[in-house]
Amino acid sequence: MSVKIIPVDPFDLIIFGASGDLARRKILPALYQRFLASQIPPETRIIGTARSGWDSAAFRTEIKTSLEKYIPESRRDADSIARFLTRLHYHPVDVKGDKGWDALVALVNDTPNPVRAFYLSVAPALFGPIASQLSQRGLRTADSRIVVEKPFGHDLASAQELNKQLAHCFREDQIYRIDHYLGKETVQNLMALRFANSLLEPVWNAQHIDHIQITVAETIGVEGRGAYYDKSGAMRDMVQNHLMQMLCLTAMEPPARFEANDVRDEKLKVIRSLEDVPLPDIVRGQYRANGDSASYRDDAGNPDSTTESFIALKVRVSNWRWAGVPFYLRTGKRLRARMSEIVVIFKDPPHSIFPHPEQRHNSNSLVIRLQPDEAITMHMNIKEPGQGGFRLTEVPLDMSFAETLGDGRMADAYERLLMDVIRGDQTLFMRGDEVEAAWRWADPIIARWQEAEDIPEPYDAGGSGPDGSLALIHHDNRRWRPIEA
Ligand code: BG6
Repeated sequence: MSVKIIPVDPFDLIIFGASGDLARRKILPALYQRFLASQIPPETRIIGTARSGWDSAAFRTEIKTSLEKYIPESRRDADSIARFLTRLHYHPVDVKGDKGWDALVALVNDTPNPVRAFYLSVAPALFGPIASQLSQRGLRTADSRIVVEKPFGHDLASAQELNKQLAHCFREDQIYRIDHYLGKETVQNLMALRFANSLLEPVWNAQHIDHIQITVAETIGVEGRGAYYDKSGAMRDMVQNHLMQMLCLTAMEPPARFEANDVRDEKLKVIRSLEDVPLPDIVRGQYRANGDSASYRDDAGNPDSTTESFIALKVRVSNWRWAGVPFYLRTGKRLRARMSEIVVIFKDPPHSIFPHPEQRHNSNSLVIRLQPDEAITMHMNIKEPGQGGFRLTEVPLDMSFAETLGDGRMADAYERLLMDVIRGDQTLFMRGDEVEAAWRWADPIIARWQEAEDIPEPYDAGGSGPDGSLALIHHDNRRWRPIEA
């Protein structure tokens, strides 16, 4: 299958926080990949700003090193990197003060391109100040875009405040709130699977589905982000955003059109249908040292921390489609494998005509795997081939994506999302009311365990999470799919 490149207009992308980790690890490598795919028109300018007192030459040297680190060897050569680097410019700016702004304005306004996007890869406390500088200094044009990264607030009140500050300077249709999970190929494929096939829709409901599992397991720990993470924990860092988006796309009604506001309206309805989660349906965990792996408390530099590095929740979507179908969510750090998947487990046939123990069958399940090895697999029962009686066995109907792609490579989420910003397509970005609704659901849950002074259950680094998370689902006579790569 060949990969189609849809051209975009020449653009100016101004990155605030260009010397930071996200810019080096994700944003610039993603732009390089799009450049290599010939999607970036020659007039395009990528303008970095940050406090570091570099000039454009120093910025290019820094980014060259990052590309050599984050782009696989097969995708880079000295000539392509050199050509890409000529698109890069840099101006130091003190975003809270006056220093550097005039030079930035002069650079941006010198032969501007048709599309202008500001990417705020900075702490959320700077969103408001930067947005108002952009508008006061006349950098914001009628159709320029502003892109903001998570965390979008710490709770409902702070998210509302950020929305207010952005709305002061930009219209909602100019604001792109990134949740990079929405840019993952398989997450988008979930919509294709559900809404471009007539086969699944009739069984996609409480009548046929027993329960749904959503797992995002990571092997990494807090990796130098301890100060941020210890104030957030898995609920704020992962559930309120990434797992919530996966849940929404799984549970939402078909939108009338595949357009930004139609899709986001349907996701919002799902979030509004979420029931509050009582304490017995929440299991929080914290990894302890195991072998060479340090404990969460050591990694986070807080010996008394009660922040969860793992959480499992039993969530209910209270509407006609999903009444009585539990959604089990779990995510954690330092688990035994890196694995993200959505699993839909179907109900058993109403009557089994295969009574013998060796004819036992597994429930049908649809596994939508985001990473690693993106794939959608339907697990079915068939007769075990050959002689020797009539036994049932499970076989996977496999749709793996990697081989079907022309260049044998799965594009990173940021590649898709950045090009959508330039195209002006907000479908894969969160709307302000959606983010607020997600906090409105999460806040009372967090408050509940804080009031109860809940202490997370320890689990071994490199394991499958706390025993309590197994009990949560076993209690309902169900079991998690194993965490394995
Ligand atoms: C980020 C979280 O949003 O997502 C991190 O802040 C987490 O804690 C990361 O590690 C996971 O993303 P991915 O794409 O590696 O699954």
